[in-house]
Amino acid sequence: MIDLQIDTSGRLRHLLTLDGLGREHISVLLDRAVQLRDAFRGDAAFPQLLQGRTIINLFFEPSTRTRTSFELAARRLGATVVNFDIASSSTGKGESLEDTLATLEAMDSDAFIVRHKENGTPARLAAHARKAAILNAGDGNHAHPTQGLLDLLTIRDHKKHIDGLNVVICGDIRHSRVARSDIHGLSALGVGEIRLCGPTALLPESGEFPQCRIEEDFDVALMDADVIIMLRLQKERMESLSGIRETDYFVRYGLSPARLTRARGDAIVMHPGPMNRGVEIAPEVADGPQSAVLEQVANGIFVRMATLVTLLAA
Ligand code: NCD
Repeated sequence: MIDLQIDTSGRLRHLLTLDGLGREHISVLLDRAVQLRDAFRGDAAFPQLLQGRTIINLFFEPSTRTRTSFELAARRLGATVVNFDIASSSTGKGESLEDTLATLEAMDSDAFIVRHKENGTPARLAAHARKAAILNAGDGNHAHPTQGLLDLLTIRDHKKHIDGLNVVICGDIRHSRVARSDIHGLSALGVGEIRLCGPTALLPESGEFPQCRIEEDFDVALMDADVIIMLRLQKERMESLSGIRETDYFVRYGLSPARLTRARGDAIVMHPGPMNRGVEIAPEVADGPQSAVLEQVANGIFVRMATLVTLLAA
């Protein structure tokens, strides 16, 4: 299979998935994000590295934080950002996505941020792009690479390195593109153990992640955990709620303050959002001292800046 993301000279051309990206490319992106963050803390004026560049947001699925985060990242570095209005676009008149891309590319666009419910849509567009970069902002349950990167950066901020850490991912892993990108990124950076926890119906197919430990008992999964990543029930991607009642769910898989004490004392709690308080996470934990949820959001801007700058070689 040709690698759409990396060109023959080893340069990152698109960002579609963390699967197979490798430690080197991931570390360069994280280091670049830290550089940009440090520069911002230094004098509060960003270098206008994307001045004159045009970036188009193509979101075929709802999004609050990811779209806003990409938009702020691009604008703060001086780019022009267009939010393509899907609802009133020609895709509704039967135009293929490839034709939409070609049309927008002919207007001198440099990058497309793509979110779509079908797995593989960003890769499909990358295969058709003439010169623009494609950034996957989440496709189906396949990948969400910038979320994976911001999660890695947040973990690195707290734990210094990823090697040897025990990371618990709890919730609806089967339908989660965030979990997949986290697992690929953590594995590339040498994580100790990833424990996947949730009801059987929400766990991935056996064999998808042979490197992970499956642990259906959340209390057991939490023992000695350094990092706990909580996920919401992705109701929009389920056929049915598979017999899961939200109140019962919290009793078995909700992260309560009492349960959190089973993890290491310095464990951090993460959630990609949107959070369902009282379903997968107690409000006291979401807002508590071990929560890194808002740090994740803040880091999101810097990893997206780093990705744009790297892909547009600015
Ligand atoms: C996630 C997504 O859209 O995959 N949200 C996000 O981008 N931060 C997770 C989710 O929807 O539960």
